[in-house]
Amino acid sequence: MNVLTLAGDGIGPEIMIQAVNVLQAASNKFELGVMLEEGDLGGAAIDRTGLPLPDDTLAKARAADAVLLGAVGGPKWDTIERSIRPERGLLKIRSELGLFANLRVAKLYPQLVNASSIKPEIIQGLDLLIVRELTGGIYFGEPRGIRTLDNGEQQGYNTMVYKTSEIERIGKVAFDLARVRAKASGKAAKVCSVDKANVLEVTELWKQTMIQLQESDYTDVGLSHMYADNACMQLIKNPKQFDVMVTGNLFGDILSDEAAMLTGSIGMLPSASLDEHGKGLYEPCHGSAPDIAGQDKANPLATILSVAMMLRYTFQHEESAAAIEQAVSEVLDDGLRTGDIMDTDSSGLTLVGCQQMGEAVLAKLG
Ligand SMILES: NC(=O)c1ccc[n+]([C@@H]2O[C@H](COP(=O)([O-])OP(=O)(O)OC[C@H]3O[C@@H](n4cnc5c(N)ncnc54)[C@H](O)[C@@H]3O)[C@@H](O)[C@H]2O)c1
Repeated sequence: MNVLTLAGDGIGPEIMIQAVNVLQAASNKFELGVMLEEGDLGGAAIDRTGLPLPDDTLAKARAADAVLLGAVGGPKWDTIERSIRPERGLLKIRSELGLFANLRVAKLYPQLVNASSIKPEIIQGLDLLIVRELTGGIYFGEPRGIRTLDNGEQQGYNTMVYKTSEIERIGKVAFDLARVRAKASGKAAKVCSVDKANVLEVTELWKQTMIQLQESDYTDVGLSHMYADNACMQLIKNPKQFDVMVTGNLFGDILSDEAAMLTGSIGMLPSASLDEHGKGLYEPCHGSAPDIAGQDKANPLATILSVAMMLRYTFQHEESAAAIEQAVSEVLDDGLRTGDIMDTDSSGLTLVGCQQMGEAVLAKLG
């Protein structure tokens, strides 16, 4: 198993050290044979080569089974030419690797229930997965642009397009993951497909394709459908009704951020972007947090939980993934908190830095 690590910028290197320590410990404990290689992406790569995604980094990423990323970007590179900014490196590596499926888990750790702005009884036990199509839909559809009409008024336009093959591809990911999650939880596998089929023809095709896919290959997985506007409301009203949600690029962008914030803390949220063969790029949902970089204040748990996703989804090793998640949970049980997840009532809790949090997870992993 070859893993490329891209620490990136800001807090990236700090959180990466802790995540790599956990990955190596899991590899030793479960005899996974993980081989690590380092590369640079984003601002760090710009400083070395002038480009946010140098050729050698891309070559290493192609050769690896999985990529673990810290975060990229920061004020140092905010004023350089837009086409070579750090974030472009991230977009390019995703498209070059064909990472069309974005996975975000919104899981509430019971110890952090007060970090959410939603009532505890609504979110207690929450554990849902949003599968978002990442390389198609209205974000990439042509034609697009801003044109001047005959009367001199300007008009902006985009095109929302999905081919059957693109819908089937992301649908298979969602149905397969629902099976994996059902196996781990012992609950029935179910997928909710989110569309706007009452208004948009492109999502009418989306819905029909999902139905056909389920009837042909996934009769063991429950399939329901929901309009995107209702899905936004239901995520707040009763999020525990969902297990796996699958949707297109635009709706997924919005719903995945909404679902992430149900848990209340950005420092806890891992994500994965997968290609057709299960190869993935794993990263925390947060950015490079330049305001706290280099101060040992960053929460490394989102990156550590991204390692767990890597073990589960690319390496299909549920036992080691669950062990990491259990170690994180136990550390929270012990009352350890980085600043971002510290409760307003801090009695019984201990404020720790990035390194101490990472070491505590390592110790629990044994
Ligand atoms: N995937 C990525 O690499 C990615 C994603 C988003 C933003 N960015 C980049 O990151 C830079 C900063 O962006 P931003 O400030 O909008 O978002 P951010 O996520 O970096 O930070 C938002 C707030 O959350 C805090 N925070 C974030 N991660 C944390 C962690 N692990 N532990 C504790 N606190 C944490 C920060 O201190 C900050 O107050 C920008 O250059 C942006 O382009 C990169």
